[in-house]
Amino acid sequence: AQTKVSGTLRADQPGAVIQPEVYGQFAEHLGRGIYEGVWVGEDSKIPNIKGYRKDVVDALKALKVPVVRWPGGCFADDYHWREGIGPRDKRPVKVNVMWGGVEEPNTFGTHEFMDFAELIGTKTYVAGNVGTGTPQEMSEWVEYLTSPTNSSIANMRRANGRDKPWKVDYFGVGNENWGCGGQMTAEHYTNLYRNFAEFVRAPRGNRPVKVAAGPNAEDYNWTEVLMKGAAKNMNALSLHYYVIPTGNWTKKGSATVFDEQGWGDTMVQALKMEELVTRHSAVMDKYDPEKKVGLYVDEWGVWYDVEPGTEPGFLYQQNTMRDAVVAAATLNIFHKHADRVRLAAIAQMVNVLQAMILTDKEKMVLTPTYWVFDLYKPFQGATFLPVEIDTPQYVIGKSSVPAVTASAGKGTDGAVHVALVNLDPNKSATVSVKLAGSTAKTAKGRVLTGPEMASRNTFETPHAVKPAEFKGATIKGDTLTATLPAKSVVVLDLS
Ligand code: AHR
Repeated sequence: AQTKVSGTLRADQPGAVIQPEVYGQFAEHLGRGIYEGVWVGEDSKIPNIKGYRKDVVDALKALKVPVVRWPGGCFADDYHWREGIGPRDKRPVKVNVMWGGVEEPNTFGTHEFMDFAELIGTKTYVAGNVGTGTPQEMSEWVEYLTSPTNSSIANMRRANGRDKPWKVDYFGVGNENWGCGGQMTAEHYTNLYRNFAEFVRAPRGNRPVKVAAGPNAEDYNWTEVLMKGAAKNMNALSLHYYVIPTGNWTKKGSATVFDEQGWGDTMVQALKMEELVTRHSAVMDKYDPEKKVGLYVDEWGVWYDVEPGTEPGFLYQQNTMRDAVVAAATLNIFHKHADRVRLAAIAQMVNVLQAMILTDKEKMVLTPTYWVFDLYKPFQGATFLPVEIDTPQYVIGKSSVPAVTASAGKGTDGAVHVALVNLDPNKSATVSVKLAGSTAKTAKGRVLTGPEMASRNTFETPHAVKPAEFKGATIKGDTLTATLPAKSVVVLDLS
């Protein structure tokens, strides 16, 4: 059996630019995300560049990561930047109270993060501390990072080895302040946001985008209160949404051992992103009809029970074809909302939650989610082109989702790129799309799929899931036809 899908791609109706930063990543001091995952230290036997593991650096460079958000997450509202500067062996050892109660040596601090960003060629998104910090502490961090003067704080940076100010592209004023960031009400945080954000003062030409800590999932009231009280004081607000397959935080389900119902339930939860973005954006429109304020989905991804035998506070999980399909379908949603969603950060970069990369001592694997981001690279900076498709639903039990989702964009290379995702794990799908306003004659591309719903890359079989050349697409007349394997992600370049 095969799914039949038809539709139209409107190359003659370009929309907003899909900001590259929608392909951002989140890296928190959590489990083996930073320590081991990125930082092994200069004396490590693991090949490294000044302490950063080389295999991970190379993999991230290849992905053209546009922005990295650091140091948290919940960790951010417990982080005091002064503890992470100066000689590494003199830095205080703290307890990472949020994540496993382990020692936080502060070895990876401001210099290590900013230098890492320069090394992989990415923009920086620093999350400040509202929960246990002060406006003064936040203000002085911004001064330390950005001041070209001879102020004592700027000179402290120089004494620690960095003469020139860094470029701080984005600055987050707190994180999840409705929860781990202080259990605040929307009203309380709105006032604090105005207060703290006022002191995020950087020199002209190096002013970060100010990001307010936005809502959890469907908390539209948070967005309402924050926009009403502080829209003029912010450049963006964040949205956090995690896919929990069971919808139950205490028993989220396994990343690798699941049946078809588990697949379908995960897809339903993932596609909720469409409604969340639409409705938060509608609330924002009331106070900001010109869409000056961005909606940054700066934490998203699938959150499962940890891999058996691993520390529960480390949030280490495997990553399968199911996650690849979730990632691609989510990116298609972000494309559609490019006018408002101008940054997103998947949680997280290495060894945590829906990771792009997994490491085990000297070994590294790239996950199926990594490969989706690789396939989607042409969409960074592309101009959104609408694709309307008529697709049957994929149904399993009470879960029902469109069998196929599609997205298109005109890349910075001038070519039209089309992403097609087959959410059905059983049936292939033949997609016929009329190309309006395009004279393309050929379609080439790559496909990501696997034999099982839980196909994945392990340290023993690191290349089990990886993109392959896609030969199932043709253009005849003005119609593009592609036959997608079951549970697959296809990205085509039309020329
Ligand atoms: O990504 C893991 C955690 O999820 C982050 O620290 C927090 O912001 C969110 O609740």
